[in-house]
Amino acid sequence: MIKKAIILCGGTGSRMFPVTKSVNKQLLPLFDKPMFYYPLSLMMLSGIKEFIFIINERQEVNFKKALGDEKDLGIKIKFIVQSKPRGLPDAFILSQKFIHNESVAMILGDNFFYGNMLSPIIKSSFKKTLGCNIYLYPSNNTSAYGVVEFDRKNRIKRIVEKPKKTNSNLIITGLYVFDKKVSEYAKKLKPSKRGEIEIVDLINFYKKKRKLSVVKLGRGSAWMDVGNFHDLHSANNFIQNIESRQSFKIGCLEEIALNNKWINKKNILNRIRFNRNSRYSQYLKNLI
Ligand code: G1P
Repeated sequence: MIKKAIILCGGTGSRMFPVTKSVNKQLLPLFDKPMFYYPLSLMMLSGIKEFIFIINERQEVNFKKALGDEKDLGIKIKFIVQSKPRGLPDAFILSQKFIHNESVAMILGDNFFYGNMLSPIIKSSFKKTLGCNIYLYPSNNTSAYGVVEFDRKNRIKRIVEKPKKTNSNLIITGLYVFDKKVSEYAKKLKPSKRGEIEIVDLINFYKKKRKLSVVKLGRGSAWMDVGNFHDLHSANNFIQNIESRQSFKIGCLEEIALNNKWINKKNILNRIRFNRNSRYSQYLKNLI
C-alpha cells in the first residue's frame, strides 16, 4: 500500500518564460486554483496523506501561502529544495529519508488528470505494487513524452524518451510508483545528453529486473501536461466547462479531505476564512 507521495514542483519552467521567471510554474493558476492543487488532489483521492514537495530555492514561502495550514487539509507536507534541475529521478535521491523503506508515488506538479474511474483505478494500483508502476495514456503527440512500445503479444518491448518515430501511441504520464529501492537505483543513473538523469532510464532499470507494470488509463479519462501555454489554456477551458455545468469543483482539496473524513466542519470554517470572499469560499460554504 502506498502511503507517501512526492510532488515535483521544481524545474526552471523555461517553456513558460517570461511568466515563470519570478514564480514556480506549479503556482500559476489552472482555472480557479493553483496548478499543483490538481496533482495533490489526485493523490489525496487515492488515500495519500503524507507529501514531499520538491521545489526551487526561495519558493517555500509561496507554496505555504498558497496552501495555508495543512492541518485543515488533513495532510502533512515537507518541502525539499532542489538547487538546480538534475532530472526527475533526482527527487528520489533528495527524498531518500522520506521514502525510508517504503514504496512511494511521485506525480509531476504540472500534470492534470481527470476522470470518473481514475481514482479507483489508481487506488487499486497503489495496493499491489510490484516494483515500478507507470500510467499510460493515448496521445497523438508521442515525440513530446516518454513512450511505451508493445510487441504482438502485448508485452512491453521498448521504453523511450521523446522518440522521433514510434509505432505506439501510449505515452508515460507524470505519475509513477516505485519501491523502496528507488533512491539507491536513482543514484546509479548516468546523466543523458541533456545533462540530467532520466526517468525512462530508471523505468528501464525496473523493466530489466522484470519489476515493471503498466496501467493503461482509458479513453474516458483526461490527461494533460499543462507545462506550456497551449495546454494550460486547453485545461483552463476544460475545467471551466466541467465546473460550470456540474457545479462541482475539480481538485477541491477540502472537499476530498472532508469526504475522506480527515477533517471536520471546523477545519472547513478555517478554510472559508482563509479564502475570504472568493467563489472558492462560497463552494466550501455549500459543503457544510
Ligand atoms: C517528463 C518525462 C516524460 C513524461 C512527461 C509527462 O517529460 O521525462 O517521460 O512523459 O514528463 O509529463 P518533460 O515534461 O520533462 O519533458
